Amino acid sequence: MSELYSKTETIKLRKKHIGPSCKVFFAKDPIKIVRAQGQYMFDENGEQYLDCINNVAHVGHSHSEVIKAAVKQMELLNTNSRFLHDSIVEYAKRLSDTLPEKLSVCYFANSGSEANDLALRLARQYRDHQDVITLDHAYHGHLSSLIEISPYKLRKGKDVKKEFVHIAPTPDIYRGKYREDHPDPAGAYADEVKKIIEEAQKCGRKIAAFIAESMQSCGGQVIPPAGYFQKVAEYVHKAGGVVIADEVQVGFGRIGKHFWSFQMHGENFVPDIVTMGKPMGNGHPMSCVVTTQEIAEAFSASGMEYFNTYGGNPVSCAVGLAVLDVIEKEDLQGNATRVGNYLIELLNKQKAKHSLIGDVRGIGFFIGIDLVKNQQKRTPATAEAQHIIYKMKEQRILLSADGPHRNVLKLKPPMCFTKDNAKFMVEQLDKILTALEEATGTRTERLNETSSDSANDSASQSENTNKKRNGYYAEKHTVTGKRIKT
Ligand SMILES: Cc1ncc(COP(=O)(O)O)c(C=O)c1O
Repeated sequence: MSELYSKTETIKLRKKHIGPSCKVFFAKDPIKIVRAQGQYMFDENGEQYLDCINNVAHVGHSHSEVIKAAVKQMELLNTNSRFLHDSIVEYAKRLSDTLPEKLSVCYFANSGSEANDLALRLARQYRDHQDVITLDHAYHGHLSSLIEISPYKLRKGKDVKKEFVHIAPTPDIYRGKYREDHPDPAGAYADEVKKIIEEAQKCGRKIAAFIAESMQSCGGQVIPPAGYFQKVAEYVHKAGGVVIADEVQVGFGRIGKHFWSFQMHGENFVPDIVTMGKPMGNGHPMSCVVTTQEIAEAFSASGMEYFNTYGGNPVSCAVGLAVLDVIEKEDLQGNATRVGNYLIELLNKQKAKHSLIGDVRGIGFFIGIDLVKNQQKRTPATAEAQHIIYKMKEQRILLSADGPHRNVLKLKPPMCFTKDNAKFMVEQLDKILTALEEATGTRTERLNETSSDSANDSASQSENTNKKRNGYYAEKHTVTGKRIKT
C-alpha cells in the first residue's frame, strides 16, 4: 500500500500532528512522494520527478543491493555493538581504506549531527581546549552543540554567539570578502583564521577545533580556493587545535575524482577528524567519526565510555558495506566525473546566454548556480531562484535554492544521474530562464552584453574564478566529455 490518505488529508494531518518547524520542500504546493527508484521519485498519481537534490539516496533510491543486504542481516541479527561482530570491524576497515593512513579509528553513530557533536567532544578532550572556529553560513547539525557553531541557523539579532565560538569568513571567491581578483584569496582567507586565533589567545582562550565542510553546501555550494585548508591547518595546529572536516554532505565519491572532498585540496592536507553521514547508508540512518589513534586515545583517557545503542549495529554496517560495493561496482565516481563535467559545460553555456546566471561552480555532482540580478554587483536573485525551482517542479524536476541569500540553485543528485538527465534538466532551465528574462526585460541586457566586450570580460572573469578555486579545474572538459589538458 503506497497511500494511506488522500494528499489533502495528509496535509491536514501533518499540520495537526507534526511540529510546524519541520518544513516540507515546495511549501506553497508540496509534493507527495510515494515511491522512488534510481534518480526518479513518483507522486501519488504516478507522476515521475527527476531528482536533482537527494544526496542521501547516494547510489540511487531503493537500490536492490542495499535493500538485499539490509534484509539479509535483519533476518539474522541486529543488536548493539557491545557484542563482538564481524560487520562493524569489516566496515571500519573498509572505510579506513578510503582515507589517509592516519585516519584509522571509527566511532559509529546515527546522524550527521551526532557525528559532529562527538567530533567536538573528541577535539575538546584532546588538549582540554574549548573554543571552536567555524565558517560563516556553515551548518553542522541540529543538536544544541551544533546550532551554536552553525551561523546558517543563528537568527540575526536574536541569537547571541557564544564566547567560545569564532566565526571566520566563508572562503567564497565569488561573493565573499576576497574575490577572484585578489592575488591570493586562499592566503587572505586563511589569515582571517590566524587573526581570530591570535585575538582569542590574547583573551586567554584556547582553540580546540576548526570545523568546516570541505565544500560548503547549505552556505551556497562554495568551493574554497586551493591552498586554504593547508594554511588553516598550520595555524590551528600551532594553536593546539584540530581540524574537523565535515563530509556529511560531500563525501563518498560525490566529487568523482576523490572519495572524500577534502582530498581534492591535495595530499598535504589531512584533517584530524572526519565526520560522515547522509550518503553513508543510502537513506538508512547511520554516521561515523573517523580520527587518529592519538586523538582516540586521549578521548578514552577521560575514562568515560562511549556507547551508542544503534551506532554500528550489524544491519547498519551491512548497509554501509553494500553502499561501498555499489559505488565501486557501478563506477559511480567515474559517473560523477563524466556526467558532472558534462553538466557543468552545459551550465556554462547557459551562463553565457543568461544574465541571471552569475556563477556556475562545482565539481562532480556538487554544483551551484549562483543567480544574480546584476552581473557586476552580483545582487542575489532570490525571488527569481524561488520562481525557477517552482517552474522546474512543474516540469517534474526537483531542485532547491540555498545559500545565505537563497539564490543558489543546488544540484546534488543521486550518483546514477545520467547525461540524458543532465541535458533534460538544462533544457528546461534554459526555457524557464528565457521566459523569466523576457518577462523582466533582463534578457535584452544580457544580449547587448554578449555582443560587446563585457561578454569576454565575463568569460575571462569566470575562467579566473575557477582557476583560483583550483587545480580542481586544471583539466578542462569538452561537452562530449573528452578531457583536454590545459
Ligand atoms: C554539512 C552538514 N553537517 C551535518 C548535518 C547534520 O546531519 P543530520 O541531519 O543527519 O543530523 C547536515 C545536515 O544537513 C549537513 O548538511
